[in-house]
Amino acid sequence: MTEKKHIGIFGGVFNPPHIGHLAVAECARDFLNLNTVYWVPSGNPPHKRISDQVSKEMRLKLVNAVVEGNSSFRIFADEMERGGITYSIETARKIKKLNPDSEIYFLLGTDAYISLPTWQSIDELMRLVHFVVYPRGRESAPNLKSSHAIFLDAHNVDLSSSDIRDKLSILCSVRYLVPEAVLQIIEDEALYTSELNSGMRKHIDAVERASVYLAELWGIPPWAARLAAKYHDAYKSFSAVECVKILERRGEIPDDFERKSAPLLHGKVAAERIEMIAQRRGYDDSIWSDIANAVRYHTTGREGMSELEKLLMVADRFGKDWNELSEIPVNPKVAIRFVLKRKMEILKQKGVVPLPAAISACREHGVEIQ
Ligand SMILES: [Fe+2]
Ligand SMILES: [Fe+2]
Repeated sequence: MTEKKHIGIFGGVFNPPHIGHLAVAECARDFLNLNTVYWVPSGNPPHKRISDQVSKEMRLKLVNAVVEGNSSFRIFADEMERGGITYSIETARKIKKLNPDSEIYFLLGTDAYISLPTWQSIDELMRLVHFVVYPRGRESAPNLKSSHAIFLDAHNVDLSSSDIRDKLSILCSVRYLVPEAVLQIIEDEALYTSELNSGMRKHIDAVERASVYLAELWGIPPWAARLAAKYHDAYKSFSAVECVKILERRGEIPDDFERKSAPLLHGKVAAERIEMIAQRRGYDDSIWSDIANAVRYHTTGREGMSELEKLLMVADRFGKDWNELSEIPVNPKVAIRFVLKRKMEILKQKGVVPLPAAISACREHGVEIQ
């Protein structure tokens, strides 16, 4: 009698696939002695909304690049080709049909495992496959019953595809976080950075340079200034509605006034993002809240701004009011007064009433409100 084959099903959005996915797939292959691990890019799963920033074809190309690097990995693109909501049971049936005499192992994260009772045709799925649970996220999953599952001794890589997309959206390197072949495609196709047009890229680059320059002059840690500059306009291309949605998802409810004001909201969304990163990393350092506040108030300023808050406001004007770094006033008080004055002039030209935070900042720095 020939030994039964062992087949793994590894579903995911893979937008993009990263080293965390590879570590899980390889661990399962090794631990369960799998002959094949089918990577199944999700089509339209019932439990998750897929960001449409990247096309299905492109996700397929990214997953293909991953599986090509391992002879035990294969792609199963059926869910992508199916229309409507795609259920795992259909995928399991098809893979079982392709491999009738095999044991099928269905990989899923702790979060998905908890939601299993709500899955379509769960009883049939339980008869067809063995569930293999891998750790996901920092929290340990409560009340996991082991009677129907194998718990994989995989490393919990604290990395998600949205982390990768966020890093790329602020033009940070993701090298070593994704396989080299995936990185190649991301770079060649400029994936996940398309929200930023070339004008915005130039602006962020200029603000970054000015921030680091001023940080050295004003005795502020340059890494903090650079981080603030990188993030400050990361959400500038988002509409007010999109910004509000993001904030609401994070449990932050903007007031009526903020809801209508995209120029204010883009800083707030980016600041929230920075605070979330600090929290996840366990950075309880006041400099991280300073960075977040610099980003939050970079458009209006406020009363009692920190040096970093002033720095970002001043650096944000580089390329508009000064073309050479040496043209920026060296004295922080002079520089911030100049910027606030310019902002008031611009608002006056546009016939826009300054916001209360901007008025307080102007009063503090002796700038006349026009
Ligand atoms: Fe901005
Ligand atoms: Fe800006």
